[in-house]
Amino acid sequence: MKSRSAGGRFSIAITFTCCVVIGIDQFLTSRQTRATEPTQTNLDEQYTKIIHPLVAKYCLDCHSTKAKKGHLDLERFKSASDVRRDLEPWPALIEQIEAGEMPPKEKPQPSTGEKTQLVAWARDLLAAEAKPVWAIRGPCRCGD
Ligand code: HEC
Repeated sequence: MKSRSAGGRFSIAITFTCCVVIGIDQFLTSRQTRATEPTQTNLDEQYTKIIHPLVAKYCLDCHSTKAKKGHLDLERFKSASDVRRDLEPWPALIEQIEAGEMPPKEKPQPSTGEKTQLVAWARDLLAAEAKPVWAIRGPCRCGD
């Protein structure tokens, strides 16, 4: 009798271990095969082909190195690498576009699709750099 119950417990332990191992295995596989994971190359290409032209079209009239409205120069971001080197303005850019504040109402507006592309790209890049928005912006910029 004693040995049977010990055996029962043992097989429960094996079953449990198997489940955990399979679970971990599936977790790892699903992470590896996520097709949507933006790679550095994707982000670089998207910036050059899509994002930079959108910024140039809708933002650089005012946010060029020369005009620099709101102390924001977006012209210096010639490539995704430039963005990686200076993430600071990007959370604000996401906020302003999402809130519909930028570009200013009287100026040509990006389509909903274009806004989504801009915001999604900036989010992906920030996520890829593994720095949450609040870590870059800091808790408060009340003095600005
Ligand atoms: C017609 C000129 C104009 C255009 C076009 C424009 N902006 Fe601005 N932007 C301003 C001015 C002026 C300010 C500062 C005053 C304010 O916040 O309203 C500003 C401020 C900002 C700020 C806030 C900076 C900060 O951290 O306080 C962000 C972010 C921004 N703009 C992003 C954009 C983006 C992105 C685009 C293009 C999609 C854009 N702007 C297009 C004039 C413009």
